[in-house]
Amino acid sequence: MGNDSQKVVLITGASSGIGKATAKLLSKNGYRVYGTSRKDIKSDFFEMVQMDVTDDTSVSNAIDYIVKKEGKIDILINNAGVGVAGPIEDTYIDEVRHQFEINFIGVVKTCQKVLPVMREKGGGLIINIASMAGQIGLPFQGFYSASKFAVEGFSEALRLEVMQFGVDIVIVEPGDIATPFTSNRWIIHRHRKKEKTPYLNSFRKTIEIIEKDEESGLPAEVVAKKILKIIRSKHRRFRYMPGSLSQRIVFILKRFLPYKLYSNILISHYKVPKFSKKNKENRYITSFKLSI
Ligand SMILES: NC(=O)c1ccc[n+]([C@@H]2O[C@H](COP(=O)([O-])OP(=O)(O)OC[C@H]3O[C@@H](n4cnc5c(N)ncnc54)[C@H](OP(=O)(O)O)[C@@H]3O)[C@@H](O)[C@H]2O)c1
Repeated sequence: MGNDSQKVVLITGASSGIGKATAKLLSKNGYRVYGTSRKDIKSDFFEMVQMDVTDDTSVSNAIDYIVKKEGKIDILINNAGVGVAGPIEDTYIDEVRHQFEINFIGVVKTCQKVLPVMREKGGGLIINIASMAGQIGLPFQGFYSASKFAVEGFSEALRLEVMQFGVDIVIVEPGDIATPFTSNRWIIHRHRKKEKTPYLNSFRKTIEIIEKDEESGLPAEVVAKKILKIIRSKHRRFRYMPGSLSQRIVFILKRFLPYKLYSNILISHYKVPKFSKKNKENRYITSFKLSI
């Protein structure tokens, strides 16, 4: 793949958070970095290209532009993503589609467009930013988790198919990272005028915990440093998990504890109520106004 300073890197979603920190670090380390945003914005450190991963033409145009200018893309980092949060029962199908359109189909689109370029050049590296939520189904983030599980399965299969062409696939599964991801999250009941839901109290409690965990999470630069290390590594693993030790331990517990025991840890952390005959919320619909 040539020496590092000549490597061309495309990072989707580089306007903030993990994508921006990674683009900045790689460009400081001599890589030729192209970052993307849906907005027409500039960066002092790397070139920004407009791309909306939900729009096929936009994905195509952005990648064509880079390939025309550089003649190649050595490294693709699929980072663009959003979180949809809400009770599964209450989530509109359009909201589910939107979640998958960005977090999963978006990854498929960039891979399909960049792979022929990498194959022709004799190899490349694709790093897909999944999440620990892609290994653990999180309450009230069911579709976010599902979209990241999809990225996991897709990446495992893709790796097996493209290794014959010298293309390596890596998954990065960050734990809680303090970024604008939290404020950008689509919280379904916040976006509706008035609805009825039996999940209100538990949803409200859990989302507060989720937000607090993220806001006190590690800085995006930790993930950026891990990505730089992965790119430079001669003996790459398939999966990396930058995050606090306590979060990585949950993942280990999932593998080794009986499922019921492990899920009790999640239930207790996220304060999800267990079934109780006294718990009217489990049986009756409660209504609420806009703010949750
Ligand atoms: N923060 C965490 O705790 C955490 C944990 C695990 C995994 N992750 C994953 O890490 C990735 C980056 O998240 P982050 O924490 O850095 O959040 P962030 O600061 O909100 O960044 C998200 C990026 O995605 C871009 N984006 C959103 N919708 C897009 C679309 N339709 N087309 C193209 N780009 C789009 C945004 O760009 P524009 O809005 O400028 O277009 C932005 O640059 C995501 O895949 C997320 O799921 C985050």
